Amino acid sequence: MRRSIAHSPAIDCQAMDASKPLRFIPSNPKKPRFNLCIVLAAVAVSLAVFFFLFAAAAAGGRDRSEKRGGFGIVIDGGSTGTRIHVFEFSAEGEIPVLEMVGSGKSVVMSMKVSPGLSDYAEDVDGAGRSIVELLEFGKGKVPKERWGETEVRLMATAGLRRLEVASQERVLESCRRVLRSSGFRFQDDWASVISGSDEGIYAWIAANYAMGSLGGDPQQTTGIIELGGASAQNAAYESLRKLLESGDLKLSAESVQAGISSLDPCTPSGYSHGVQSGMLPSGVLSLKSMSLSTLHARGNFSECRSAALMLLQKGKGECMYKHCRIGSTFIPHLQGKFLATENFFYTSKFFGLASTASLSDLILAGKQFCGEDWFRLKKKYHSLTQEDLLHYCFSSAYIVALLHDSLGFALDDKRIQFVNQVGGMPIDWALGAFILLKTDNPGGRRGLITNILGDDPSSLLSLFIVSTVLVFTVCSISKWRKPQLKTIYDLEKGRYIVTRVNR
Ligand SMILES: *[C@@H]1O[C@H](CO)[C@@H](O)[C@H](O)[C@H]1NC(C)=O
Repeated sequence: MRRSIAHSPAIDCQAMDASKPLRFIPSNPKKPRFNLCIVLAAVAVSLAVFFFLFAAAAAGGRDRSEKRGGFGIVIDGGSTGTRIHVFEFSAEGEIPVLEMVGSGKSVVMSMKVSPGLSDYAEDVDGAGRSIVELLEFGKGKVPKERWGETEVRLMATAGLRRLEVASQERVLESCRRVLRSSGFRFQDDWASVISGSDEGIYAWIAANYAMGSLGGDPQQTTGIIELGGASAQNAAYESLRKLLESGDLKLSAESVQAGISSLDPCTPSGYSHGVQSGMLPSGVLSLKSMSLSTLHARGNFSECRSAALMLLQKGKGECMYKHCRIGSTFIPHLQGKFLATENFFYTSKFFGLASTASLSDLILAGKQFCGEDWFRLKKKYHSLTQEDLLHYCFSSAYIVALLHDSLGFALDDKRIQFVNQVGGMPIDWALGAFILLKTDNPGGRRGLITNILGDDPSSLLSLFIVSTVLVFTVCSISKWRKPQLKTIYDLEKGRYIVTRVNR
């Protein structure tokens, strides 16, 4: 993964100064370099335009590929499954333009296989085998003559991150073997485990790309709030169960009177924890059902919300800051618009809410659902699995506890949108990763330079133009890469990350 190439335009020019023979940059470092950058860029633009015209005429209409589009593949190795994303783009160099593909409703074609790569820690060859099917899907979407130039990257997240490094490496190596012989363009370091904050930055890029706010005023950019995927949501749900079973959480006097049995306010009445253990694999049935049966389902949204809040605030005693909002984590004041994705989106969609619905709408829907009888719910939502259905009372209460009770969003706050995609763009970190790769593609830039150099690389004019085009490229890219804020709640790590994005 390429890191930041520059922190500001000023540094860009300095970096250029050191590494390239740019004699026309004055050596006085006190001069405002940003203006210099603009001037250089302007000179470069005119020269580049002139040269392009000149070269195009000289080449007699030879096919020029500097603006040629293509395809790109990102394989997302998540904890519950591995998903391939195939993108088609029409321009490269600056921010790529994605093409609508497939049925024309989205910019991405994707396919997922389960389980995730981390499940193959004991059967490493299985990891490679699991992506064969995905690559076949990719080959079906990319024209054969483009396979060789289509880059495929595999980025693994939470699941693999939890394994020890040696196991991670074995799983990755197994995938690399398959990727090398896939026919697509691949290098060994293109299969890697990415960090949680990389994932956050990519998701932020995807959101702002979709919203059209990439490169704009940092104050106008859009943040993302997410629960950290399906696995984190399940983890939260499990923690709640533990909290309830431990008896640390006495929600009402009644449950104290009930003695051994704890009330579970996040599960609609009528559901029996004991009987439902039949869903578990047979081996663990007896033990699990014993422990589960101490919970008595009695859905109540308000109580469930208190329980979720307690879960979120665990560890508040250790807060080292003046003000902590989630556990012992300090969260800065939240500004701007936010997209609430993944589980936020699925939950609001389940309740039939619009993307612009407010938290009060969600409370109303959650109250009704939590208080409903389990058997009536099962009848009403017969197409859903029981396990899925079971989570919605908790999800609705958890979202309110997180966004309102913990983060302080007003119940009628219109800054939050519950969405998973904007205008056919999935708000998915894989899209952000692709955009970043395509924008920061050294191969592409070298290709551009080679084109300009043409058949006479020794010519002084060519050298000069290459230099100015380099300045122009770096300056223009750094323009939308000026440090910008992104804000993401990462439930997996249990904290909110606010970072400056500057790469
Ligand atoms: C839910 O719990 C709250 C607080 O314990 C209580 O005031 C309310 O009446 C309960 N709602 C229902 C429908 O039982």
